[in-house]
Formats: sequence, structure tokens, C-alpha cells
Amino acid sequence: MKGITLIGFMGAGKTTVGKLLSAETGMEHIDFDDKIVEEIGMTIQEYFDLYGEAAFREKETKVLKKYIDHNFVISTGGGIVMRPENRELLKAMAPVVYLETTPEVFIPRLKNDHTTVRPLVVSKSPEEIKDVFEPRILYYKETASMIVSTDKQTPEEVTKEILANL
Ligand code: S3P
Repeated sequence: MKGITLIGFMGAGKTTVGKLLSAETGMEHIDFDDKIVEEIGMTIQEYFDLYGEAAFREKETKVLKKYIDHNFVISTGGGIVMRPENRELLKAMAPVVYLETTPEVFIPRLKNDHTTVRPLVVSKSPEEIKDVFEPRILYYKETASMIVSTDKQTPEEVTKEILANL
């Protein structure tokens, strides 16, 4: 089976569903945030503080380029679609599945997030988080070869839907 790439906003369940897809298909699961942390040698929060978002996006593209031809289940970071170059690279990696979710669902999840993975939502109001999300919607849709609505489904149901539609 060809690999599967998951895209979507923070809190959409990309990592959880990625692990389930990996268990179902036997393909290895790769989390791009983990690969970036290996690459930068510090947490994502520390990297943002030191070098800023633009430098982080450079590293993200570097990691993405390593996985153009892949046989893995890949969970990407929520902002990977921001660069036009990344969108083109991702399209060449189809199937790309957009795990679609809404602020009603992801904002409460992100409020409880105390990791060092998501500097863009630390100390942000729900309105500010929505402002990060909204310009991305079109990019997620444009990049995906499959869109799965996750709000009313368990991660197991989302996994089943993806596998049924491949
Ligand atoms: C980001 C999402 C994060 C991580 C970084 C930037 C974003 O990944 O890559 O903090 O811009 O949406 P997750 O979507 O896995 O949380």
C-alpha cells in the first residue's frame, strides 16, 4: 500500500489517527513534529523563541522533502500548508487526508495543551486561535485528496473512513 499523509489544524487528531492507521495497515508512523525536533535539537517552543516561525517553516520544508516518496503514515504539523512550495510537495504525496475540525472542538482541546509543541496557541484567546485557523482552511482543502470530517467521529471511526475511501 502507498503511504498516507495527514494534514489539518492543531488538535484535529493527526497524531492519534496516524497511530491507528499505522496499527491497521502495518505501515510505520512518522510524526513530522518529532522529526523537526530531532533536526533542531531543541523543543519547538525553544526554536520559535530563538529563531521565529519563518525559520521553523524552513526546517519543516526540509523534513517534508525527505519524505516525498514514502510508504509511511505521516502526521504533519498544522502549519505545513502555509508555504506554497509545501502544498505542491504534499500534492505529489497523495493520498493526503485533511482531518477537518471546527473551533468548537479544537479550541477546548488546545486550551488543555501544555506541551512545548504549539507555540502559536500558547497564551492565545479563542479569537486569536481562530485567526490562525481561518486563512488555512482553503489551503487544507486545496492540498487534500480526501477530506474527513472528524468532529462527530471517534478516532477509530475516522480511521475506518479513511481506509474505506483509499
Ligand atoms: C503548528 C502546529 C504544530 C507544530 C508547530 C506549528 C502550526 O503541530 O508543527 O507548533 O502552525 O499549526 P501540530 O499540528 O501537530 O500540533
